[in-house]
Amino acid sequence: MKSDVNEYSKKLESLGIRHELVSHPEMVEVVDVMGFLGLPISEGFSTLIYQADGKYVALNRRDDTKLKLSKVREVLGVTELKMVPPEEFEKLTGLRRGAARPLSPVSETLFDSKMFEKEYLMGGSGSNSTTIKYLTADLTKIPNSRVMDITGELVGASEGIVLAGIRSSGQLHLGNYLGAVKGMIALQNDSRYTTNYMVADLHAITTPYNITSFQHDTRSVIIDYLSAGLDPEKSVLFVQSNVREHVELSYLLSTVITVARAQHLPTYKDKFHQQQGNVSMALFQYPVLMAADILLYKADLVPVGIDQEPHIEITREIARKMNTQYGMDFPEPTRFATTGEYVPSLTGSGKMSKSVSGSFINLTDDLATIKKRLAGAPTDSGKGSTIPTEGGVANLLKFVELFEGIEKRKEYESQYIGSGIRYGDLKNELVEAIDRELAPIREKRKELEAKPGYVDKVIKEGAEKARVIASATVAEVKQKMGLG
Ligand code: ADP
Ligand code: TRP
Repeated sequence: MKSDVNEYSKKLESLGIRHELVSHPEMVEVVDVMGFLGLPISEGFSTLIYQADGKYVALNRRDDTKLKLSKVREVLGVTELKMVPPEEFEKLTGLRRGAARPLSPVSETLFDSKMFEKEYLMGGSGSNSTTIKYLTADLTKIPNSRVMDITGELVGASEGIVLAGIRSSGQLHLGNYLGAVKGMIALQNDSRYTTNYMVADLHAITTPYNITSFQHDTRSVIIDYLSAGLDPEKSVLFVQSNVREHVELSYLLSTVITVARAQHLPTYKDKFHQQQGNVSMALFQYPVLMAADILLYKADLVPVGIDQEPHIEITREIARKMNTQYGMDFPEPTRFATTGEYVPSLTGSGKMSKSVSGSFINLTDDLATIKKRLAGAPTDSGKGSTIPTEGGVANLLKFVELFEGIEKRKEYESQYIGSGIRYGDLKNELVEAIDRELAPIREKRKELEAKPGYVDKVIKEGAEKARVIASATVAEVKQKMGLG
C-alpha cells in the first residue's frame, strides 16, 4: 500500500497539486484519524463516490458539512443518485473503505465550495495509514472537476440516524463484536450521527429460548454493550420490548409486504429447514419487526454483519411502499459495514456463530479460554505452493488480519510459501492479540456487574428516550394510514 501512496503522490505532483503525506496507525473513520492528528473535523474533507444515472461521480465535502443530495442532483442534472456500496467501491477504486481519494476513476468530480474557505485540508490517500494534507486551491486541477455549492447547513446534531440491535439469545462473540458492535461504537463516536442501539428480545423469542434465564440474557447484552464502549450519554440504549411501538408498527408495516416475499428470505428459509418446517408466525414476522425497529427511528444506517443484508433490503422495500402508498417519508436505510463484517468460524468452515459449538470466542472469555478455543482450530502442514482460500488455515489468516493487521498476515503468507508457518507460534501471538482487545472489555464488565442499579437506570432511561421518538412515528403512520 505504501508504494501505492507514493505512486498516487507522484500523480498529484504531475498535475501540480501541492500536498504533504502524513502517516498514522491504520484507521478507517475520519473522526479517529482527525482525533489522532489533533485536528478538528472542519479541517478534513471526504471523497464520496456516488452513482448518478449510471455514471460514477466523486463528491468532495468538508467533514463538518453534509451533502445536500437535491443540490447535487440539480448540478449534475440527474434523477438517480445513490452512494456506491462498499464492495462496488472497492472494485472500482481498488481501495479499502475509508481510503477514498479525490483523484478517482470517475467521470466527474465535484468539490463543495465551502472547502475553499480553508487553505489546507486533510484528505484521502488510498491507504488507511496515510492522510494527505492538500493545498485546497490546487484540487481544482483535477481533470473534469467543478467547484459547486453541494452541501446544506453545517453538521449540527446529526448527519444520519443509526439503529442497530442484537438478539438476546446468548453471549456475544467476536463475530458480533467485529461485525456489529464495533460499527455501532464507531458511529456513536462520530458526532455526525444520532445513534440508537437496542437488545432485540422480541426477535430472540421467535425461536425456542429459555424463559428462566431470559431476563438475565437480555440484561447481559446491555452489559456487553456498555463494556465494549457504548455510552448512554452518547447513544440511546434500550430493550426492544420496553418500547411497545415496535410491535405496533410491525403490524402496520405487515400490510404492505406479501407472504410470498417474506417466504423467500434466505434467513427464513434456513430456519425453516433447520426446524423442519415447524416455525412460528413470529419467525415469519421477523423481518417486518426488524423493519419496524429501523423505521421507527427513521434510521439511515444500520451497523450489522453481512448476513443481515437481506433484512435491510426488505426494510428498504417496506419503506418505499409506505412512502408511495401512504405518503410517509421513511429513508431507505443502508448497512454500515465494518472490516470485520464476516468473521469466520474457528472450526474451519462457515461463519462464527453462537449456534455452532467450537466456532466462537466469547467477549467474556479469559486468556486461558481463548487459548483453549484457538487450540482446536484446524491447521495443516504449514507449507504449500498457494495460500489456502478456505478452511482452517484461511480462517486463521483472517483472524491474524483482523487482530494483528494486514502486514502480519502477509508475513505469515510468505512463510507459508517459504520456510513454513509454525502454527504454535501463530496461535500464541493471536491469543495475545485477541486478549489485548478483550481484556479492557472484561474489566469494564466486572465493574458493571458490581453496579446493578446503574444498569437498571440505563435500561429505564433508554426506554423513555426511545419511546418519545417511537410514539411520534407510530402516531404519524396511523394518521397517514387513516387510522386516526
Ligand atoms: P449468531 O449468528 O451468532 O446467532 P446473531 O445472528 O445474533 O449471531 O448476530 C448479531 C449481530 O452480529 C448481527 O449484526 C450479525 O450480522 C453479526 N454477526 C454475527 N456473526 C457474525 C460473524 N461471524 N461475522 C460478522 N458479523 C457477525
Ligand atoms: N436480526 C438481527 C440479528 O439477527 C437483530 C436485529 C433485530 C436488528 N432488529 C434489528 C439488527 C434492527 C439491526 C437493526 O442480528
